[in-house]
Amino acid sequence: MALQTFRKEETLAMREKLIGRSCRLFYSDDPVKIVRARGQYLFDENGKRYLDCISNVHHVGHCHPSITKAAAAQMDLLNTNTRFLHDSIITYAERLAATLPEKLGVFYFVNSGSEANDLALRLARQYTQHEDVIVLDYAYHGHLTSLIDISPYKFRKLAGQKEWVHVVPLPDTYRGMYRDNHPNPGQAYADTVKDLIEDVHRKGGKISAFFAESLPSVGGQIILPQGYSAKVAEYVHAAGGLFVADEVQTGFGRVGSHFWAFQLQGEDFCPDIITMGKPMGNGHPVACVVTTVEIAKAFEDNGVEYFNTFGGNPVSCAIGLAVLDVIEKEDLRGNAVRVGAHLKDLLNKLQAKHRIIGAVRGVGLFIGLELVTDREKKTPAPCDLAQCPIYVRLKEEDQIVISTDGPWDNVLKFKPPMCFTVEDAELVAKSIDRVLTGQLNTPVLYSWYYRINEETPGVTSLMRSSQLEAIVFKGIPATALCYHMGED
Ligand SMILES: Cc1ncc(COP(=O)(O)O)c(C=O)c1O
Repeated sequence: MALQTFRKEETLAMREKLIGRSCRLFYSDDPVKIVRARGQYLFDENGKRYLDCISNVHHVGHCHPSITKAAAAQMDLLNTNTRFLHDSIITYAERLAATLPEKLGVFYFVNSGSEANDLALRLARQYTQHEDVIVLDYAYHGHLTSLIDISPYKFRKLAGQKEWVHVVPLPDTYRGMYRDNHPNPGQAYADTVKDLIEDVHRKGGKISAFFAESLPSVGGQIILPQGYSAKVAEYVHAAGGLFVADEVQTGFGRVGSHFWAFQLQGEDFCPDIITMGKPMGNGHPVACVVTTVEIAKAFEDNGVEYFNTFGGNPVSCAIGLAVLDVIEKEDLRGNAVRVGAHLKDLLNKLQAKHRIIGAVRGVGLFIGLELVTDREKKTPAPCDLAQCPIYVRLKEEDQIVISTDGPWDNVLKFKPPMCFTVEDAELVAKSIDRVLTGQLNTPVLYSWYYRINEETPGVTSLMRSSQLEAIVFKGIPATALCYHMGED
């Protein structure tokens, strides 16, 4: 039976009725209805094309024909579970092992990043027989109860922090407690972990694990300072705990130069457990935990079977293998290096031009652009400060879909499918430049200004920044609202 299609307004109304409202939409004021996708492009119900800067799940490109073909062929043949012998799971595990340090060789396949992190927590606790967990501030590790507990990004909005959870500062060298001008921020931030462990010990706690994304993403596309992870691992091991690297967003070559983002920290660092998810199945739910023989043995020794109905099934493994093939055949890591460097270069040039850009950071196709209203004070300029936020304008004016994050929601995040091109990067930079320059050449902008004018007595026409300085709108200077209106 063909799927019934609805007009966009009907889809929205039915969704509001039928789907839990806490499942939020992008662009909630005017959501986009996507009906098909290819590569880095999404198409709405009218055939309008959007450039996807958001999806790090559709890693090798939306609806890649090789993935579809592999999925369909395996679906047509067999899809059982891991209780039967099958070749695809071992072939897949072997291929993944080839990308990892030798000590990480035992795999558990699951269906989501959350399942992977929950299992990592169980493995760490079983192996160490300790309970307490250390996490980075603003971290997000998944939506299960156990992971909300270790995700400050979520638990701060809920009941609060469990007594076994301990939060260390986010090693953000742009606006954190130790910055780029510090002689050794990696060591200094690692020492915050050491101090915290001592504190936990004084109170009678014992560390089972330190959990961290290899590049903290919801924290605002943060690049960990050099030396941080190795030092933290040393302190955590000395306390009898394990280092868990969450590579759910960052793995599979996103950083270009390496297959895994933890490898950016140098050869002397290797996590004890790695969790992976999003890009693995290019949209199909495949995720995984990899660990050492010793940790897996301790988990086995508890005598309880680990069974996951769908995890590691032949279809998931066939898709996972096809994703690895495409990454290699299409040199997507090389593409991430080249296109990522070009995009960063363009954004750096914009930073020289627009004072609102406080920082540009990133590696490969994992890039953040941090907006501030004052460069010296690094005052965050929330992306939704103005009535027409920057990410909305990029969508409305140039059909670029992009998300924001960071503790103040002031970081534009670039984590597009890995087939993103130089031309895509140029379109994005051009569009951001136009939005920040405040070129008043679109109906969207006119209506934005019109709304400000309407609500702000005395503002009667489009103005230059020198005139706007005198105006305060809802307590916010109009200049801040307008994101710096050109050089004069
Ligand atoms: C870093 C990180 N870990 C874990 C998860 C949870 O993954 P999933 O949504 O597949 O359960 C996410 C999801 O956004 C994530 O960003």
